[in-house]
Amino acid sequence: MRKGTCRFRRRRAYHGMLNINLSGRRALVAGVADDGGFGFAIAKSLAEAGAAVCVATWPPALNIFRNLLERGKMDASRAMSDGSQLQFERVYPLDAAFDVLGDAPDDLQKSKRYKDVGDFSIDGLTQRLTADFGETPLDIVVHSLANGPEVKKALIDTTRAGYLEAVSVSAYSLVSMMRRLAPLMRPKGSFLSLSYMASERVIPGYGGGMSSAKAALESDTRTLAYEAGRRYGIRVNTISAGPFASRAASAIGIIDAMVSYCAANAPLAEALTASEVGNVAAFLSSPLATGITGATIYVDKGYHAMGMAVDRGMPGTP
Ligand SMILES: NC(=O)c1ccc[n+]([C@@H]2O[C@H](COP(=O)([O-])OP(=O)(O)OC[C@H]3O[C@@H](n4cnc5c(N)ncnc54)[C@H](O)[C@@H]3O)[C@@H](O)[C@H]2O)c1
Repeated sequence: MRKGTCRFRRRRAYHGMLNINLSGRRALVAGVADDGGFGFAIAKSLAEAGAAVCVATWPPALNIFRNLLERGKMDASRAMSDGSQLQFERVYPLDAAFDVLGDAPDDLQKSKRYKDVGDFSIDGLTQRLTADFGETPLDIVVHSLANGPEVKKALIDTTRAGYLEAVSVSAYSLVSMMRRLAPLMRPKGSFLSLSYMASERVIPGYGGGMSSAKAALESDTRTLAYEAGRRYGIRVNTISAGPFASRAASAIGIIDAMVSYCAANAPLAEALTASEVGNVAAFLSSPLATGITGATIYVDKGYHAMGMAVDRGMPGTP
């Protein structure tokens, strides 16, 4: 009788608990240099789900980021729900513009922010990961980085160099990371990147070839999902996030207007938070999402579904 009661209680205790459980998994989040962007929020959500998290940081931002961490300036945002602090297993240098160190110009390699960090290329990151953790150290890779030096210029005024730089850093880097990191992943791994709907609709002010880079990123997500799925059994998805005032987005120059426009016109009339993106990233990286690959998932309060700006005077507008 007591045994039966016990069994009943145990069953009840677990009923309805469909958790994102990433314990025993290791994630690499590339593109974290402060606590104000999607990369940090994704790292935190992955850690909340139990994953060990390494991050990769652009060398010009690396020292500042390490100082912020060491001086406790990010302690509030690192606070985890169990009372502990978000820890990064490693903070690696990464300049995603370079596949191997030899591709970086000499003067850049010798410059103040790069000269002491070691091999900051994608290949260098791969070597560090295997040196630190063995041949198959990863389950989850998140590409949360972008850069378009001419983002403030209209596409029509963008130089060839600016355009190619935007596509190189923001899109090709995913291909290069996939080629080098996919063989390091354990079975059922997940790759994820961050896109923006300027890939498919015109967002005036999001220039410099960044819209082209996001279109490439989304298309490559589909092709890489097929190729890496067949070759390695890993999944590849991208989150098309709504506008959010991160450090990178602030460089666009119109981010506050983009945020308030979306909040005013989206089905959910409120600003997007980074943790909403982080939580979807954790889900997509988890065993709960083993059926999803090659997808562009909108996390934008539904803004992508709209075909018309909201005019409160119109019939049908609440
Ligand atoms: N903030 C938005 O409104 C928004 C909307 C949709 C998609 N996204 C995408 O989300 C991703 C993360 O951006 P975020 O807005 O959270 O800003 P963020 O500033 O937190 O992240 C961008 C990161 O890219 C890094 N970076 C730049 N050039 C690099 C390089 N050559 N090598 C390695 N790292 C480099 C920066 O140091 C920074 O850490 C980007 O792909 C961005 O396009 C942002």
